[in-house]
Amino acid sequence: MKLSYACRVIKLGGSVVTVKDKPMSVRHDIIKYLSSELASFLNEHPNVRLLLIHGGGSFGHFSIKKCLSSVGAIDVKCFSHTSYMMMLLNTYLVNELIEAGLTPVSIPPHTIFWKEGGKLKYELGLLKEYLAKGFTPVLYGDVIISDNVFEVLSGDTIAWVLAKELDVNEIVFVTDVDGLFDKDPKVHSDAKFIETLRAEELKDLKFSTSDYDVTGSMMLKLTEGLKYGVKDVRVRIVNGLVKGNVYKVLVGSSTVGTVVEY
Ligand code: IPE
Repeated sequence: MKLSYACRVIKLGGSVVTVKDKPMSVRHDIIKYLSSELASFLNEHPNVRLLLIHGGGSFGHFSIKKCLSSVGAIDVKCFSHTSYMMMLLNTYLVNELIEAGLTPVSIPPHTIFWKEGGKLKYELGLLKEYLAKGFTPVLYGDVIISDNVFEVLSGDTIAWVLAKELDVNEIVFVTDVDGLFDKDPKVHSDAKFIETLRAEELKDLKFSTSDYDVTGSMMLKLTEGLKYGVKDVRVRIVNGLVKGNVYKVLVGSSTVGTVVEY
């Protein structure tokens, strides 16, 4: 469904909004400046809507790791606890967005996404309604019902699904790295920065999967778009730990981050 207004999907990575290896540690200063950058952009572009999604960082991922190591699976107790942890992080973020002057509304993904027969299902009617009324919906990586079990739905997947279903042609992945490199920059000091590339070229890059993150790496984040068959989508990867970057990307500056064309 094509929206009648311009819309951008923004995924704030868990490593940007939290310190990933420190349980329940929110990056207060960063969330503050990100919120005010989003507010500045929206004030200057009143006809554009933003759809925000944030990751789990040291809230969701920690909770899941704990269950997996003790119970070996996501059980009912683990689901409750993880969804609660994600809501805590979400509440903090939404509060900062309100303080910055935005009009966010939380949409807990476990209430609109589920899996049936291994296939991801969703009900996006209300979300579209909130967007149309001028809200900034805020979703997040969450736990969902998957037939007879429970599983994690990554915020990255949500970003791709929303871009595809709402015909949005720009996704901004706000991460803790400057953009895309030809190798994992956290492992290889000689990794070369890539300004733009086409999605088909992704397979030529080499990345290692972080063993901490239960939902995968940068590569997974980007190749998922191919899986969902998105077309005419521009993905921008930007380092949100640098003040001003997200605003620059939103106003179309090509001086920061990497652009991947799908
Ligand atoms: C994970 O969401 C959510 C849970 C672990 C419940 P994401 O996969 O989007 O989180 P980040 O961005 O990697 O932290």
